[in-house]
Amino acid sequence: MSLADAPPLSLHPAAPKATTTLRRLHVITWGCQMNVYDSGRMADVLAPLGYTAATSAADADMVILNTCHIRERATDKVFSELGRLRVIKDERAAAGKTTILAVAGCVAQAEGAEITARAPYVDIVLGPQTYHRLPEMVARAHRAAGPVIETDFPVEQKFDFLPAAPADQDQAVTAFLTVQEGCDKFCSFCVVPYTRGAEASRPAASVLAEARGLVRRGAREITLLGQNVNAYHGAGMDGAVWGLGRLVRALAEIPNLLRIRYMTSHPRDMADDLIAAHAEVPALMPFLHLPVQSGSDRMLTAMNRRHTADDYRRLIDRLRTARPDLALSSDFIVGHPGETTADFDATMRLIRDIGFAQAFSFKYSARPGTPAAGAPGAVPEAEKDARLVALLALLRDQQDDFNARSVGLEFDVLVTGPGRRPGQIAGRSPYLQAVHMDGPESLVGQVVPVKVRQLLTNSLTATLNFPAFKQERARA
Ligand code: SAH
Ligand code: SF4
Ligand code: F3S
Repeated sequence: MSLADAPPLSLHPAAPKATTTLRRLHVITWGCQMNVYDSGRMADVLAPLGYTAATSAADADMVILNTCHIRERATDKVFSELGRLRVIKDERAAAGKTTILAVAGCVAQAEGAEITARAPYVDIVLGPQTYHRLPEMVARAHRAAGPVIETDFPVEQKFDFLPAAPADQDQAVTAFLTVQEGCDKFCSFCVVPYTRGAEASRPAASVLAEARGLVRRGAREITLLGQNVNAYHGAGMDGAVWGLGRLVRALAEIPNLLRIRYMTSHPRDMADDLIAAHAEVPALMPFLHLPVQSGSDRMLTAMNRRHTADDYRRLIDRLRTARPDLALSSDFIVGHPGETTADFDATMRLIRDIGFAQAFSFKYSARPGTPAAGAPGAVPEAEKDARLVALLALLRDQQDDFNARSVGLEFDVLVTGPGRRPGQIAGRSPYLQAVHMDGPESLVGQVVPVKVRQLLTNSLTATLNFPAFKQERARA
C-alpha cells in the first residue's frame, strides 16, 4: 500500500483526541541532549494527530530517526539503520500497514535530499529548525507521491509554534529544556554551526512558562540546554536582554524547582553575572561542563576557540572562588590537524592543573565542510590512538579519585526513582553521580540528605541522613 492510500488523518491540532485516528510513533534518538529534548517535542507536536508511543519500530505507524553528525561515520550509520528500518517497513506493507519513515536531526540537515536519493523509501527529511511543521509534513507525506524534504532555516522561530506538552503527560523528575540553539563560534572542527544554524535564544517568558509546566507535571531538576547555552541572550520580561545568569535567577524563583543545571557552555561566554549566580543561587548545582578541547595555545588558536589555556585556568579559579565545591567536566579532542606531542603534553598539563570530575575525549574526525577538514598536518591514526589512551587514563584516574573522595561525604541527593532492589531508591548527587540507598518510594522527587558509604563501579551507595526518616524507621 502506498502512502497515498493511507486513511486521512485529522490534522487540526485542537481536534479532540476522540476524533483522531490512533497511531503509534517510534522515535530513535542519537546524539546530544538537545536531540533527546527535540525527540520529546516532536512527539508533543504529533500527539494532537493521535500519535502515541509505540513499543518498537515494528509496532509503529511512523518512525523518526533523529540523527547526529558530530563525528565520523555519522552518515554511514544513518544509512545502515535506514536499511534495517526499510525491512520493517516492507514487512508492515506486506501486512497492509503503512509506515511513515522520517529522518530528522543534524544528518538530515547536512545531507538533505541526498538521503532520499540513496534511500527512496524515506518519506520525510526534516532539519532541526522545522519540527513545528511536522504535522503539515506528515499530511503531505500521506498525500504526495514523492518525499517531503524540509531543511531550510525558516524565518519563524519553531519555539513560537511548538505546542506545550499535554498537562497530563508523564514527566520524569529530571528534565531538559532548550533555551538557546545554534552556534556562531565556528570552531575549526565542528559541524554544529552548519547543522543547527545561527545562535538564537528563546524569550525568557517562554522558557519560564515551559519550566513551570515541567514542574507542575513533576520535574524537580531542569537542565537548560543550548549548543552554546551561556551565550543565551533572550528577550526578558522587562524589555531588557537577559543573559543566562539572569534567566537562572528567574527560574530559581519557581516553587518546587529544586535544581538547575545548564549545558553546554563555552569558556568565552562565562559572563560575570553567571559566575556570580554560581555563588548566589543555591538551586544552581555545583557541577559545570565547560569544554576546553585542548591545553595548547597553538591548538586553541588553530581550533578558533579564541581563548588561551591560561584564560581557561583563570576562569576556573574565578568559578571556584565563587563556588568552592564546584566540580568540573570537559570535552577534549586529540589529533586535531597540526597537533604535536608538545601540544598534547600541554593538554595533559592542563588536565593535571585543573582536576576534572568527569570528561569526554574524542579522536579528531574530519567533518566535511569544516575548515579543519582541509587543514595540513593530519595526525596519523596510530598516534591519535596512543594520545587518546593516555588522555583517557589520566581522566579516568581523576574521575576515580573524585568518586572515591565522595565516600564519607554528606550531601543532598535528588531521588529520581525506585532502585534496583525492592526497598531501594535511586537518585543523583549534586555532581551527577548515580546514588543508591534504602528508602521509601514516597521520597521520589524530593531532595534528601545522605551520607555516602561506598563506591561501586558506576554508582555510589548511601544511607539517608534524615532524622525524621530515621525516627520513622525506629518506630516501625
Ligand atoms: N558546543 C559545545 C560542543 C558541541 S559538540 C562546545 O562548544 O564545546 C560536543 C563535543 O564533540 C565537542 O566539545 C568536541 O569535543 C567534540 N567534537 C566536535 N566536533 C568534533 C570532531 N570533528 N572530531 C572530534 N570531536 C569533535
Ligand atoms: Fe561546535 Fe565550537 Fe560551536 Fe561548540 S562552540 S558547537 S564546538 S562550533
Ligand atoms: Fe550531534 Fe547535532 Fe547534537 S551534530 S551533537 S545532534 S547538535
